[in-house]
Amino acid sequence: MIQVKNLSKHYPDKVALDDISVDFPAEETTAIVGPSGSGKSTLLQALNLLERPDQGILTIDDISLDLAKPLTSSQILQIRQKTAMVFQEKALFTHLNVMKNLTEGPIKVQKKSKQEAEAKAQALLEQFDMTELANRYPYQLSGGQQQRVAILRALAMEPKYLLLDEPTSALDPELEAQVLRVLKDLAKKDVSMIIVTHNMAFAEQVADQIIFVDNGSIGYAGPTDGFFHSKEARIKQFLGAMSF
Ligand SMILES: Nc1ncnc2c1ncn2[C@@H]1O[C@H](COP(=O)(O)OP(=O)(O)O)[C@@H](O)[C@H]1O
Ligand SMILES: [Mg+2]
Repeated sequence: MIQVKNLSKHYPDKVALDDISVDFPAEETTAIVGPSGSGKSTLLQALNLLERPDQGILTIDDISLDLAKPLTSSQILQIRQKTAMVFQEKALFTHLNVMKNLTEGPIKVQKKSKQEAEAKAQALLEQFDMTELANRYPYQLSGGQQQRVAILRALAMEPKYLLLDEPTSALDPELEAQVLRVLKDLAKKDVSMIIVTHNMAFAEQVADQIIFVDNGSIGYAGPTDGFFHSKEARIKQFLGAMSF
């Protein structure tokens, strides 16, 4: 489980996260939803210390860190080994083909042999029906394919928790559906997934838990059904604004 306690992040003119406490259970899918600018990315990035909160306790499984204190690079590395982030924008290595994109991290960072890294990459490509893409370069892929490769690249590092920040918001609907199908398959496989999304239909179908971030605070944290059937005015207003 990932747990944050009393997490705060202040910018000079904005409180991005205001003393929030929330749990992300292992082997479940948690969707983080909320209005633009509410603090979703700040929260997600705090989970792998890409964004450094001013205070709070971050616990990932057996590692617990007081974020108000200085952190050592080995503490940061430990957190990063448990988590992998997939961004909104395609972030593949443009000069490397798909296979090399998938093996670069395992070889360079995790010191795996080329053979082992390639076998793992091959297995991932097969699992997601993408073997024909192995030798292509990113510019030879559609946006949806690039984003699926970005997800596999994160999975190649075998993180316990996969963090995704609006992974489909740069894609048109057909390509978005391709990527969401991959994520839906992953969710069924009990990968621990934490995903910031604007796609309420996807969140409702796939997430076990919803965290509604509203103006730097937690507006809801609990089962998916409870969120989508909430009688609370603010949640109904948000869901109303997200549909048409
Ligand atoms: N580097 C920064 N400097 C100042 N304000 C920031 C910075 N990053 C984010 N913010 C502000 O913090 C708030 C939360 O941002 P963010 O977590 O990106 O929201 P979301 O992902 O929900 O759209 C926003 O009001 C944003 O403008
Ligand atoms: Mg964001």
